Amino acid sequence: GLPGLVTIWEVGARDGLQNEATTVPVEVKLEFLDRLAGAGLRVLEATSFVHPRWVPQLADADELLTRLGRRPGVRYPVLVPNERGLDRALSTGVEHIAIFAAATETFARRNLNRSLDEQFTMFEPVVTRARAEGLAVRGYVSMCFGDPWEGNVPLDQVVSVGRRLLDMGCQQLSLGDTIGVGTPGHVRSLLSSFTTAGVNVDTLAVHFHDTYGQALSNTLAALESGVTTVDSSAGGLGGCPYARSATGNLATEDLVWMLDGLGIEHGVDLEALVATSTWMAGQLGRPSPSRVVRALSGT
Ligand code: HMG
Ligand code: MG
Repeated sequence: GLPGLVTIWEVGARDGLQNEATTVPVEVKLEFLDRLAGAGLRVLEATSFVHPRWVPQLADADELLTRLGRRPGVRYPVLVPNERGLDRALSTGVEHIAIFAAATETFARRNLNRSLDEQFTMFEPVVTRARAEGLAVRGYVSMCFGDPWEGNVPLDQVVSVGRRLLDMGCQQLSLGDTIGVGTPGHVRSLLSSFTTAGVNVDTLAVHFHDTYGQALSNTLAALESGVTTVDSSAGGLGGCPYARSATGNLATEDLVWMLDGLGIEHGVDLEALVATSTWMAGQLGRPSPSRVVRALSGT
């Protein structure tokens, strides 16, 4: 059966903006986050404490977090790749971080400048220190459903990377279809590979990019398999600068529309969210790719 309640993990300010050609001013990002919170979203991935040369769009992470007006009941996780990033995050009062691993050798090299094995050496002290400081830690696994350089990615390779992150101390895994090639049968197979390996489905989240238009179908398959945390991005913004053909994430509005139809609770005010994405599209100078945003805003 389907869950009664889904937690939406909103990645618009991080995944959504990291790939934008024009730099979004910190004031606009702050307003974006505040409007998303106002629309009822309770988990807002805010930014990344990565190397500013690697992701110039998020080079203002320290200033953003310092100036962020945190609302009660809202979590503001940030991406952290290494100890330098953790130091920066801790000094701005961050309470929730996400490390981000690759399921493939090539993407580990391209995204993290590490081999598949070396990435764990980089993450281990981050997770250990973060947990000791009382932070919550999510672990992303990228390229779970296919890799632009390596093609098919074996299920057991994805599970093995995920297991290592959990054993390290990550409390949740987000399974990323970074380039949006997955389909519902593949989603079912991967999730059942995890549960067969002893991973509780409650610790799994899904992170779909909509490159091939499969994100919503994949989400439904994940919900039917027991997943209750879904990553999405307001207006369907997003993409990874280090992965060819990574386009926008599943749009939060498209997700909310489907959840409404299924009678699944989510806590989001769709009208306020569409207004936010329409405003953000104006800031970015291009229309939202979300079908629901277009339908409801008449654009
Ligand atoms: P590196 O060049 O190997 O770094 O990059 P290093 O450890 O050799 O350090 C080199 C210099 O960088 C040092 O300075 C460090 O201090 C500095 P120096 O001593 O030479 O003066 N440095 C830093 N400065 C500020 N903040 C830091 C930091 N780290 C090192 N955190 C590194 C390795 C991991 C840093 C780099 O590869 C990187 O920043 N990668 C980030 C790539 C990224 O953000 N990709 C997008 C996010 S992943 C994604 O989108 C997928 C996801 O959405 C899920 C999905 O869709 O599947 C999550
Ligand atoms: Mg992503």
